[in-house]
Amino acid sequence: MPHLFEPLTLRGLTLSNRIAVSPMCEYSAEDGYANDWHLVHLGSRAVGGAGLVLFEATAVSPEGRISPQDLGLWRDEQIEPLARIVRFIDGQGSVAGIQLAHAGRKASTYAPGAGEGAVPATEGGWTVVAPSALPFSPSYPAPQALDNAGIAAVVEDFAAAARRALAAGFRVVEVHAAHGYLLHQFLSPLSNQRTDEYGGSFENRTRLVREVVASVREVWPDHLPLFVRLSATDWVEGGWTPQDTVKLSLTLKALGADLIDVSSGGTAANAQIPVGPGYQTPFATRVRHEADVAVGAVGLITAPAQADHIVRTGQADLVLLARELLRDPYWPLHAAEALRQDASWPKQYLRAAPRGSKGR
Ligand SMILES: Cc1cc2nc3c(=O)[nH]c(=O)nc-3n(C[C@H](O)[C@H](O)[C@H](O)COP(=O)(O)O)c2cc1C
Repeated sequence: MPHLFEPLTLRGLTLSNRIAVSPMCEYSAEDGYANDWHLVHLGSRAVGGAGLVLFEATAVSPEGRISPQDLGLWRDEQIEPLARIVRFIDGQGSVAGIQLAHAGRKASTYAPGAGEGAVPATEGGWTVVAPSALPFSPSYPAPQALDNAGIAAVVEDFAAAARRALAAGFRVVEVHAAHGYLLHQFLSPLSNQRTDEYGGSFENRTRLVREVVASVREVWPDHLPLFVRLSATDWVEGGWTPQDTVKLSLTLKALGADLIDVSSGGTAANAQIPVGPGYQTPFATRVRHEADVAVGAVGLITAPAQADHIVRTGQADLVLLARELLRDPYWPLHAAEALRQDASWPKQYLRAAPRGSKGR
């Protein structure tokens, strides 16, 4: 079995280790454009040695933003500010990936700390869309149900954003179908009560995700990997289940998805989630074994030995860290030291590195 610091090859791309920066909204963009904050934040994590740096949920359309401060890739002018960051990450021997997203009924909400629930039109809010006209919670925007033309536009928006991501130099694209955002809203019977070909049966509820993944795969080159983030469970009776996740993963793999990034929750505001160290990893392991596809594990993975154990015991192919990498952008370098593995250090920092370290 490989370990945390062994390379991971997916299609024609090799990551230098199994550590990924999990996508994290920074709520720091203006009109969707990346800026110096994103450069320093994401760049620091590449300096810190993560093999893959996944950019935050990046909206495929303006109405797909969670908050007015989200990153976006709905117009060509948004490519270059992202490309600048990708070039820096590449220069560190890391790989830049982008998570493409549409927030659906969880769009047009305040960034944390700026307010609660829906942003009104007077403050730059907008009308939100969803599979059905059901709000996430009473304080969230009341969505309009998408019609067939609206659904087709979503599929096109994902493909167009993927084309722009490729132009920006990204080498991994991740379709965000988790955390109660638009694609997950279609998957879950809790939020999808449609009676047309996009609602009802498993086949119908998964149709939009399948269409999006197929359309992104069409524009994403054969030699580059495509990830899909799924919530393995809604944590609520009558919701999306781990078994559904396995079944969908099998289909997504056939459509050209290379890695399923397994998270959970986000559809039901009242869900009770038993949070604890590595609490979502068993879902990833189940997908890995039952759908025979590479998986990422995420959720309260914080210790080097814990992350290494997940990879060594075949629970997941990749570990994604979010908050621990906010606390310590150099976590991969520190983890290598703790696990007595080699990791290349930025040549500028070699005088602080363990003896014998290689520069990059
Ligand atoms: C500040 C912040 C922003 C986040 N934004 C995103 C996001 O854009 N897309 C996403 O899929 N998950 C997002 N998440 C969830 C993380 O990617 C991750 O799945 C979650 O925090 C659990 O991992 P952790 O225990 O290592 O923090 C965010 C988490 C944090 C803390």
